Amino acid sequence: MSDLNFNGIATPHLLEATNLHKSFKTSSQVINVLSGANLKLKAGEMLGIIGASGVGKSTLLHVLGGLDRPETGQILFKGEDICSKEDIYLEKFRNQRVGFVFQFFNLLSDFTALENTMFPALIARVEKKEARRTAEELLVQMGLKDRLNHKPSELSGGESQRVALARGFINKPDLILADEPTGNLDQKASDSLIELIKSLNDKLQQTVVIVTHSQRIASKMNRVVELVNGVVIPVEKSAFI
Ligand SMILES: Nc1ncnc2c1ncn2[C@@H]1O[C@H](COP(=O)(O)OP(=O)(O)O)[C@@H](O)[C@H]1O
Ligand SMILES: [Mg+2]
Repeated sequence: MSDLNFNGIATPHLLEATNLHKSFKTSSQVINVLSGANLKLKAGEMLGIIGASGVGKSTLLHVLGGLDRPETGQILFKGEDICSKEDIYLEKFRNQRVGFVFQFFNLLSDFTALENTMFPALIARVEKKEARRTAEELLVQMGLKDRLNHKPSELSGGESQRVALARGFINKPDLILADEPTGNLDQKASDSLIELIKSLNDKLQQTVVIVTHSQRIASKMNRVVELVNGVVIPVEKSAFI
């Protein structure tokens, strides 16, 4: 797989976002969502992001992962400013460096668990046989050995989210961005998803960012921040225990 050229710049952080601004204009108003947000992610850490509904957590995640662009600000990913890049670079960046996991799973309904998991690898031009092998391996690891050929409508919420997780991990991204991944799961499925993410993080050392409403989940992260009034502030983890 071709590599993005990061010029070997040494940086202690996987990602450094500085002074991010983002607003949305509707016909009647301008909503300032990010107003000078700063965030640094250390390689391998698990960060929880909390914040009130509508405060801009999803927007922040989209901007960090190159799904959306900030109006101003800088995002250094391994020392490279992704905001200054063209769309085609960002597409490749998202496909190869970032794994997204969404609240509503976002699986393609006409395709099986295996096919859904394989897609990012096929987009990255991994050979089909190899993509299938890796996808199978991941799904088995997720406890879905007997669900490979099930379509999303034939999967439970917890199973669907594990497929989405496998899809997020298939290209061995540096960064996993999960937007309320347990928002549609019961507590048992939610706990097992978080344990799965933690064990993958232990093993693969990807950096993981999880947006969550759950204090229970936030307390399991290495570090927690809150998005308030468009900026990111640290939260003492002891606040949850
Ligand atoms: N594409 C958009 N157009 C207009 N307003 C948007 C758009 N996306 C988000 N918003 C608004 O921006 C604010 C932050 O949204 P969001 O990032 O989804 O918040 P959160 O994830 O914290 O609930 C909300 O007020 C939302 O209505
Ligand atoms: Mg959201």
